[in-house]
Amino acid sequence: MIRLENLRKVFSGSTRPAVTDLTMDIARGECVTLIGPSGCGKTTTLKMINRIIEPTSGQITVDGRNAMAIPVHELRRSIGYVIQQIGLFPHRTIAQNIGTVPSLLGWDDTRIADRVEELVETVGLDHEMLGRYPSELSGGQQQRVGVARALAADPPVLLMDEPFGAVDPIVRNRLQAEFHELQDSLGKTVVFVTHDVDEAIFLGNRMAILEMGGILAQYDAPEKILAEPASMFVERFLGGERGLKRLSLLAVIDAGLERGPFVDVTAGPEEARRVMEANAVDWLGLLDGDRLLGWVDGSRVGSSQLRDLEPRSFLVTLDSRDSLRTALDAVVTSHARVAVVVDDGIYRGMLDLEAIAGEVTE
Ligand SMILES: Nc1ncnc2c1ncn2[C@@H]1O[C@H](COP(=O)(O)OP(=O)(O)O)[C@@H](O)[C@H]1O
Ligand SMILES: [Mg+2]
Repeated sequence: MIRLENLRKVFSGSTRPAVTDLTMDIARGECVTLIGPSGCGKTTTLKMINRIIEPTSGQITVDGRNAMAIPVHELRRSIGYVIQQIGLFPHRTIAQNIGTVPSLLGWDDTRIADRVEELVETVGLDHEMLGRYPSELSGGQQQRVGVARALAADPPVLLMDEPFGAVDPIVRNRLQAEFHELQDSLGKTVVFVTHDVDEAIFLGNRMAILEMGGILAQYDAPEKILAEPASMFVERFLGGERGLKRLSLLAVIDAGLERGPFVDVTAGPEEARRVMEANAVDWLGLLDGDRLLGWVDGSRVGSSQLRDLEPRSFLVTLDSRDSLRTALDAVVTSHARVAVVVDDGIYRGMLDLEAIAGEVTE
């Protein structure tokens, strides 16, 4: 959808390029996160894609067309842009802000109003905000307006420059999760600039890491980059806890689940003891068919029928879509040192420390 070829920018009065011969392909429907230290050329790269900044040399192709040859207004109509610091118009209402591009395109008032209503729903804003001014909204709400405004004319491409940079960490996490879902449903082609490694890993189908001077250090799926950083620069940039970051990208369902010391309530005491012995534990998980009932202490097994022992609930259970990072947390906080996976009451299996570690070391 977007191809950058040997893209270079040298600002006048400067000797070193801000962006150096950058070559990247961005597939249709993909979200690429662009990350690197402050001043490495991220904003300059975005602004070259929609031609707010003209490249010194190189080629930009958008949807198969040479971006330099498309009239600027036409190019920008196909590219939504969320600028750094949001940049809402302070003297226009939220509705007017969101309707900026449709209004420039000459849509009639009813069509604009309908579209604004629709977008307010899409980004999870309260309808009541439409008549307010930007200063009357919280940082997080302003960010949503910025995203709604960029989406207004339904452009196939979205450029986002540190869109969640100015909000507190809790709101930022919520906005990230919402954007992730929105991206799944809208399927836009997105270039998302950030300086937050975790954000880049969470949101990017691929992640491009830039060094100073806009030099591409590595461009790949986050799990590949975390597993094999291409250079010392990349490794240092990713920072600590690379193992935990990788675990956060892997789902419980993708790991090898084991049955563990679990038996059906109809099992006799012999079988119950054998299962505990085989798993080297002194507790037993009880199932009724597929359904998880809970666990009982090994000392109680044999005193009566399993179905008469009142099982205790596991304090923490996981959903199979949870990440292995969440699973690790469950393991280290559980007494039995296992994470039990249950979807809607149905027992899927369990994981221990060994199984989780195996996923990142193999
Ligand atoms: N309009 C400009 N004129 C001159 N230099 C600029 C201009 N805009 C950016 N730069 C310089 O280009 C480099 C890259 O800037 P920028 O793309 O904004 O970095 P980032 O967004 O990665 O923090 C910096 O050294 C910056 O000072
Ligand atoms: Mg910037």
